[in-house]
Amino acid sequence: MDIFDKIDRNFGPLGRFMEHAHGYYMFPKLEGEISNRMVFMGKERLVWSLNNYLGLANHPEVRKADAEAAAKWGMAYPMGARMMSGQTRYHEQLEKELAAFVGKEDAYLLNYGYQGMVSIIEALVDRKDVIVYDSEAHACIIDGMRHHFGKRFVYPHNNIENLEKELARATRLAEKTGGGILVITEGVYGMAGDLGKLREIGDLKKRFRFRLLVDDAHGFGTMGPTGAGTGEHLGAQDQIDVYFATFAKAMAGIGGFVAGDHKVVRFLMYNLRSQIFAKSLPMPMVIGAMKRLELLKNESALREKLWTIVRALQSGLKSRGFNLGRTESPVTPVYFQGGVPEATQITKTLREQYNIFCSLVTYPVVPRDVIMLRLIPTAVHTLEDVDYTIRAFTEIKKKLDEGAYSSGEIAGMTA
Ligand SMILES: Cc1ncc(COP(=O)(O)O)c(C=O)c1O
Repeated sequence: MDIFDKIDRNFGPLGRFMEHAHGYYMFPKLEGEISNRMVFMGKERLVWSLNNYLGLANHPEVRKADAEAAAKWGMAYPMGARMMSGQTRYHEQLEKELAAFVGKEDAYLLNYGYQGMVSIIEALVDRKDVIVYDSEAHACIIDGMRHHFGKRFVYPHNNIENLEKELARATRLAEKTGGGILVITEGVYGMAGDLGKLREIGDLKKRFRFRLLVDDAHGFGTMGPTGAGTGEHLGAQDQIDVYFATFAKAMAGIGGFVAGDHKVVRFLMYNLRSQIFAKSLPMPMVIGAMKRLELLKNESALREKLWTIVRALQSGLKSRGFNLGRTESPVTPVYFQGGVPEATQITKTLREQYNIFCSLVTYPVVPRDVIMLRLIPTAVHTLEDVDYTIRAFTEIKKKLDEGAYSSGEIAGMTA
């Protein structure tokens, strides 16, 4: 059999929607400057799909720093992996600044958050160790665990009673194998917007021996009085043994970092396969990240603006009867009853009649009969954007309740 034969039978869990989705629901092209308004299929739309939380993507100082760094260094320097020939004082300086900001002894840069997380998990555990993780863990955590040869136990999302039971099981097993326990959660859950119960998990350290790894991709820069993340927001930063965040969201860049005690970070530097065997972050990403971090730390007005938009959007939608689930962060899921056909018709109506571009989330991320439209408010949105969107959602919900989207047809692309 040809290895490619199976492609005809099975295009994969997402690929099977390709015919209807490509270029529209999946792989859409958003054009123009990153902002609240971008061009989709030739027309300007109000965009609620980008994790540009603080609006740094097009901040003039960021654009200037990026451009100057690219002009000075090019995109190539430094060549090679950090360990071999890709180390610079700027990488080290950024690491120091990041560590200080999140209140940890040390930090290490990651070329991409996803790859970094996979390697962090792989490096921290061996076959004797046990991983206990939240059932809604991001793909990078799941994929990191695929490298783990020992046991892993899952607890239902944020269910601390169940976590306790799994920790008791893990403790018995680890006593037998002579291994340790790693608990993994997220700070902000990027789909539903709720927070990992970092305090409650931290409290369990009084009764169980484990280390806590937190993926704070959506919390870094958005949560906490200084923006240092979900741990800061919940008063649990000290309970986090290994703190992870990406630059892909509030920092509007590429890369990420891991922070913790000096010894642990040094161990990771020498053991993260995705970093040892991959090229170092190029200089414009590093210099650009320093500028972003400076603004994230010093321009609290950006975070205040973000939260003004978040509060207006979330309270406005809630007061009109929308179900936003359990969000406690800027991530704003709006849940409707319905299946994939209704979901596509609603999304298409929003895009084409209202010029609102937001992301559609369907089964298996949410149950089969649930539609989730996910809105990401940012500091570059306006209160007028919020009002307009609430009005559009209200009209759409009325039509949905009247059965206007119940033809059972998946809406394809016509725009
Ligand atoms: C929770 C979470 N972890 C990790 C990542 C991966 O980060 P990166 O885009 O830097 O690979 C993402 C998405 O960007 C994410 O949402």
